[in-house]
Order: sequence, then structure tokens, then C-alpha cells
Amino acid sequence: MKTIRLISELQELIDRNKRNHQTVGFVPTMGFLHAGHLSLVEQARKENDIVVMSIFVNPAQFGPGEDFEAYPRDEAYDSKLASEAGVDILFMPNRDEMYPHDGGIQILPGSQATSLCGAKRPGHFDGVLKVVLKLFNIVDPDSSYFGMKDAQQLAIIETFVRDFNLRTKIKRVPTVREKDGLAKSSRNVNLSGEERLVAPVIHQALENGKVLFDQGVSVRKVEKEVAEQITNNSSAQIDYVSLLAYPSLLPYTPEAEEAIIACAVKFEKTRLIDNIIMSTKGEEYVSNDDE
Ligand code: PAF
Repeated sequence: MKTIRLISELQELIDRNKRNHQTVGFVPTMGFLHAGHLSLVEQARKENDIVVMSIFVNPAQFGPGEDFEAYPRDEAYDSKLASEAGVDILFMPNRDEMYPHDGGIQILPGSQATSLCGAKRPGHFDGVLKVVLKLFNIVDPDSSYFGMKDAQQLAIIETFVRDFNLRTKIKRVPTVREKDGLAKSSRNVNLSGEERLVAPVIHQALENGKVLFDQGVSVRKVEKEVAEQITNNSSAQIDYVSLLAYPSLLPYTPEAEEAIIACAVKFEKTRLIDNIIMSTKGEEYVSNDDE
């Protein structure tokens, strides 16, 4: 695995590979890698000649008072995991080269960013789109791999790529879970021992929400039941629990082909998100509970 920090060096290497007709699969991350990231690499590995992973904790997507400073980082361990997983090029740019100046141009997501985390974290998806566009331009990937735990991010990026004719294909990769159902997340390390014990209730509550949804229970009641199950069984505060159409993220109507039940909860030091995406027949879109 080659580790590269300079944009020009990465671009030279990628150009050389492209001249040899090699396809490039791209896994953008903020590091502190876990099995969720490695499943993105695994899929990218199967579908491409070259796998590029970026690690960059993007300041533009953290709001004031959010956990930019506390976001976990471990470059040495990440390099080891990335190399073992089969990453060919690890791109770890520095902040000054990624954001050398601010010309004031903004990239603003549309209505998909007005609910869920977009409503709770103003500007978050502006920052995600900004860095993702920069990374796509730098890496020029044939395919880019995103996890379904960040379902809103994925939906917004799919729209961005479609509407702006970006040349990469976006690949959806199922959420990877701990044995007890907790979605893998870099932020899980910031849970206290007790919080970690009760955190699986998030997934259990979402699964129960899906059962209620399948039974035809109303959107409001499903949301209420999910929120109550979480608050009754943990110290977590609910940021939101929402049942919406997916990927439009508009209010759910029976015409929608897919629906999402998504939540964000706050423990003392960390905020976790999770979701279940379902077809309108009530089938879970993907499930990957046994890793
Ligand atoms: O999902 C993430 O880790 C980040 O939002 C991303 C896509 C790497 C952009 O910083």
C-alpha cells in the first residue's frame, strides 16, 4: 500500500493507472477505521483494479460545538487496517492543502437535507458535499463506496452526482453491525461502558418500528414507539426519530417505493445515528446483522 499526502502526487499516480486502463474504486473516510469501512473496501476491491481510500477529518462538516476535536484519530492503526484490507493507495491530505483559501463559493444541498441530521446539524451536508466534490475531482474514481448507516448522506450524494453529471458511480454498502446489533461507528469508542451495554436498544427499537410499519401502524405512532423504547431503556436523549420516504426524504406516503426509519440519539459524549430502509412491502432493504 502506498501512502500519499500530496494532491499532485496522488493525481500523477492515478493518471498513470488510468493510462493503463485500470479502474479506480474510492472509499472516502474520516478514519478510525472499523468493519464498516472495511466492508466498503471489500466491495471496492471486488469491483476495481485499484482501491483508493482517503482519510480526512473534514472540518467543514462539523458545526460549532460539535466533536471535531474529539473525533477519534489513529493514523498508524488505520494504515495497518487499510493495508490488510487490500487498499492500494491511502490518501491522507492535510487541512492546509485541502482548504488553502475560501473563495466564498458554497455547495448547498436541496430538500433532502432539510430533515433528519440536516435539520439538526445546519451546514453539515454543505461541508460533506464540499469535501466529496473535492475528493471526487482529486481521485477521479470510476466508483465510490458509501455506507447505508449514513443514509441521508448517501441519498444527497446520489442526487449530487446525478444532477451535476459527476462521473463516478455511487455504490450503496449495507450497514455493518456488532453482534448485539449496534451499528459500527468510529464514535462508539466515546460511549461509556454502561452506554455501550444499552446502545443496542437503538437497533432493536428500529426493528420494532419496522414491525409496526409492516402492520400498518401510522407514521407518528411508529416514531413515538421507537423513541419511547430507546428512552425507556437507556440514558440516551432523542435528537430525532423519523419515518420518511427514501431516498427523497419527503414525508412518507404509500406511493413511496422505499421508506426509512432513522434516528439520532445523544449519549453523554457522543451522538449516534442508525436507520432501517424498507421497501413499501415492508421488506428491509438490506440487512447485515451477523458480522
Ligand atoms: O461518511 C464520512 O465518513 C464522511 O462524511 C465523508 C463522506 C468521508 C466526507 O467527509
